[in-house]
Order: sequence, then structure tokens, then C-alpha cells
Amino acid sequence: MRPMRPSDGPQVKVSLNKLSADARRSRFFASIAEFSDDAVHRLIDIDPAREYLLVVLRRDDNGEIPIAGGRFVLEDQRPECAFSLLIGDPWQGQGIGRRIIKALIREASRRGMRRMHGHVLADNRPMLALARALHFAVRESDQGDDVLEVVRELPVGKSPRWTAFCRKFWRRRGNQR
Ligand SMILES: CC(C)(COP(=O)(O)OP(=O)(O)OC[C@H]1O[C@@H](n2cnc3c(N)ncnc32)[C@H](O)[C@@H]1OP(=O)(O)O)[C@@H](O)C(=O)NCCC(=O)NCCS
Repeated sequence: MRPMRPSDGPQVKVSLNKLSADARRSRFFASIAEFSDDAVHRLIDIDPAREYLLVVLRRDDNGEIPIAGGRFVLEDQRPECAFSLLIGDPWQGQGIGRRIIKALIREASRRGMRRMHGHVLADNRPMLALARALHFAVRESDQGDDVLEVVRELPVGKSPRWTAFCRKFWRRRGNQR
């Protein structure tokens, strides 16, 4: 898992066009027939100051293929962000979504965000179960009856200096044993 790069575009396009109709609808709330170069460009060319985008790659003999991704976008006026997730069909239910969202929570906290939310189709049981398991509250949204909002407060992020200090401390303790 690493931040997405613009050069991932062609591989991401291939992976997106392999998604089932269900996965497309669950993520984009619409039935997308084909992901064009432009659509992929809009999805992965982000403003790093406002957005964070992770990709999960599967490595095999032919190279690396993107199998999942997750992002958050910062709100304009509040210390809040909106997240979304997408796991390729063959890789769902293996804990990848859980790992991505935890990584998003960590990074959002580090950036000083206090709350994270996301929109989820009301019939998207896997996403609602995952959100509940990670302490998101589920509530009505302002986007109609078939869309719910999941929301949770974020832990206060540690400053990079504090994190570096802790790492050093535990490394020293480890060496003393
Ligand atoms: C919803 C989605 C993100 C879940 O990711 P995932 O990698 O499949 O989920 P995980 O394997 O990490 O599951 C974590 C938890 O979610 C819940 N969950 C996941 N899939 C589930 C399913 N099919 N039924 C019930 N609960 C499920 C469980 O609580 C699970 O915990 P457990 O493994 O301890 O039982 C993924 O299925 C997906 O990308 N779907 C299509 C796009 C989408 O719905 N995006 C969300 C819109 S923001």
C-alpha cells in the first residue's frame, strides 16, 4: 500500500474496467459503463494539499496491479474530511478495506482532522458493517433515502517530532534487552 502516483494511471484504468457493476455502483453511486482516460485522470490526479489517495498493489511475475484504493478529501471550512474506498471484486472480504481505512484515519489525524465521514448506499451492507466495526456512527444523509452517512471522530494526531521520539525510545529499549 502506498500513495497513488500519476504514472499508475494506465494500470488503474485496466483494474477499474474489470470491476463488477455492483462495485461501480457501490463506489460511484452510478452505473459506469467504461472508465475513460479522462475519468481515470480525474480520479488519480489529486491536489496533495487537499486530498490523500492510497493504492494497494498486488505483485506477481508480470509486475504490479492495483487491486484497491482509498482516499480522503479535506473539507474547506472545518477540520473534517470525506473518505471513500474501493476494493477489486476478487480481493474483497480479506481485510484490505479495513487496513486502508485505518491508514486513512491515521493520516487524517496526523493532518489535524477531527472528524471523518463518508456516503454509503443504504443497501451496501459490507461497507456499513466495516464502518460500524471501526466505530463510525451511521445516520441519514442529505442525499436522499438511499444514501446514508457514516461518521466518526478522529483521535488527536501526534506531531511528527513526538512520533520520531517514541520510535527512538522504543528502539533503544529494544536494544537494551
Ligand atoms: C465495502 C468494501 C470497501 C469493504 O472492503 P473489504 O476489503 O471487502 O472489507 P474487509 O475484508 O476489510 O472487511 C472488514 C469488515 O467489514 C465487514 N464486511 C466486509 N465485507 C462484508 C460482507 N460481505 N458482509 C458483511 N460484512 C462485511 C466485516 O465487519 C468485516 O470484518 P471481519 O472480517 O472481521 O468480519 C469493499 O467491499 C468494496 O470496495 N466494495 C465496493 C465499493 C464500495 O462499496 N465502496 C464503499 C463506498 S465508500
